[in-house]
Amino acid sequence: MLVQDRNSISLHYFNMNKLRIAIQKSGRLSDETLKLMSEAGVAVNTGQGKLVASCSSFPLEALFLRDDDIPAYVNDGVADIGIVGENGVKESGLNLRIAEKLGFSSCRLSLAVPKNIDYPGLSYFNGKRIATSYPVILKEFLTKHKITAEIHSISGSVEIAPGIGLAEGIFDIVSSGSTLISNGLKEVETVMRSEAVLVVSPALDNIRIALLDKLLFRFRAVQKAQNSKYILLNAPDDKLKDIIALIPGMKSPTIMPLAIKGWSSLHSVVNENDFWEVIDRIKELGAQGILVIPIEKMIV
Ligand code: PRP
Ligand code: ZN
Repeated sequence: MLVQDRNSISLHYFNMNKLRIAIQKSGRLSDETLKLMSEAGVAVNTGQGKLVASCSSFPLEALFLRDDDIPAYVNDGVADIGIVGENGVKESGLNLRIAEKLGFSSCRLSLAVPKNIDYPGLSYFNGKRIATSYPVILKEFLTKHKITAEIHSISGSVEIAPGIGLAEGIFDIVSSGSTLISNGLKEVETVMRSEAVLVVSPALDNIRIALLDKLLFRFRAVQKAQNSKYILLNAPDDKLKDIIALIPGMKSPTIMPLAIKGWSSLHSVVNENDFWEVIDRIKELGAQGILVIPIEKMIV
């Protein structure tokens, strides 16, 4: 049985010198959260229906919760930290500190209407009914834009509301957009962008602050590595200076002479985002035999 009562959890797990992290028990965030934790060396022993799991390699304990509940658990200090969507934090109305944006589970919160509507702009929603699981964020947006609409709060399957005559529009998470398409809807306004974030309880003691620092250090190393590639190439010596300017690496590239006179081998790190652009330019400068290798962890 899952005991979802905050006080009962706190009675059992108080006073332990472990960092308690609240994570989503199933859904869009949970797989990537567990993957990040495992790559950071803090894998937890998950199991079907588990509410609490421990980690054998780090003083950490995970609470598996519904994502909507995570902000409140962290705010109350039952969990020390939590991984949750930015949208969930905003919807909770709690003023939680975000220690790190985690770069996964990116999505947007958007207004959508039936695809056959000739959408005139936001004024469309005046006097209309909008179904959503995010009434707080929606209300703030509508108020800001002086739109008077009726907000219908429903907890799931928001996208079917227009089809069954419950609403004229919806406000929901859009990621790939396929849910909208398969329900005959189209996105008309993007209200906020969101991704997974790490939130911190307002009342952490020094032991837990130190543990959090250690954990964040590891998460950052994993994230940084994912955004970077190790690159090896051969280059004519007279072009080395120009090539180094394009791939300066972490401190500076490693240069080793080749057995052929006038040529060197260069090792560096390149950012994923400007990867192809950089490759094109170093090729133009005469680089040859370019090898690109994934990096597992990166400590700068
Ligand atoms: C969200 C949202 C849509 C879907 C959108 O649901 O409510 O149903 O994702 O994703 P797509 O654009 O990639 O199709 P989620 O999976 O988070 O479940 P929930 O609504 O039950 O929380
Ligand atoms: Zn949800």
